Amino acid sequence: MPLPTEAHSDADIRRAAELLARANSVAVLTGAGVSAESGVPTFRASDGLWEGHRIEDVASPMGFRRDPKLVWNFYNARRANVGKVRPNPGHHALVELEKRWGKRFTLITQNVDGLHRTAGSQRVLEVHGSLYRTRCTGCAKIEDRGLEPLRELPHCPHCSAMLRPDIVWFHETLPEDIWQEAVEEVADCDVLLVVGTSAVVYPAAGLIPLAKHRSRWDDTRPGASVVEINLARTDASDLVDVGLYGKSGEILPKIVALLPGS
Ligand code: OAD
Repeated sequence: MPLPTEAHSDADIRRAAELLARANSVAVLTGAGVSAESGVPTFRASDGLWEGHRIEDVASPMGFRRDPKLVWNFYNARRANVGKVRPNPGHHALVELEKRWGKRFTLITQNVDGLHRTAGSQRVLEVHGSLYRTRCTGCAKIEDRGLEPLRELPHCPHCSAMLRPDIVWFHETLPEDIWQEAVEEVADCDVLLVVGTSAVVYPAAGLIPLAKHRSRWDDTRPGASVVEINLARTDASDLVDVGLYGKSGEILPKIVALLPGS
């Protein structure tokens, strides 16, 4: 049963800020919920992005082979929508956290909307790819096309093969170097913030138990403290140290405001 919004107390927020204030290194895992207040639909809500489409039709290599036009129409519509939205106070609060921790701060996102970068986050590990980039199905060249309108069936300017979105689809593996960096940072952090993700899609969701247990890495060091910020409890909630249930665009700025020196 989902909790009502605002199901957290000021004491919970203070506790999250205290954990952060003591942390030497901080990692953050974000999902579609962090962009919800910007007007980007989440995946698993009833008005979710997949509505009207079966996931395997628009987000799998088989779907793309079967009907590339349908897939490009879907992603071109998402690209156009991202061009109309702006980062919200949740994205901006995460920029503030990066300014404080610098290189000891890592933002890992499952989102492909680019809003963390637009807000000003510098180091963003986009483990599911980006709507901004295309990848050639022939020469494999990856290019940042920004949000320029693309044709219904765009082709590679270098080798003329068909382009595809540079997004990780179901049945595909995550970009190896980015994923490895995410795993190392999470295994080493003192606090992991988990923001706006249903924590059901793996391997990204596996970062949460990795932070908590760290067992593969270092048996002698206690696990990280995990703070979950979500509208409602998720599959990961039983693992977390502090659960803050409400809007990330409201909760994250409150946490930042309680950090020393704010
Ligand atoms: P989901 O749509 O599964 O989950 C979004 C989560 O955000 C839910 O738990 C909501 O309760 C929460 N939420 C909604 N609005 C919120 C708000 N204002 N503040 C805080 N939380 C809020 O999205 P993801 O977990 O990101 O993968 O989905 C993971 C992956 O599944 C996506 O990256 C995508 C999809 O398949 C690929 O495209 C490869």
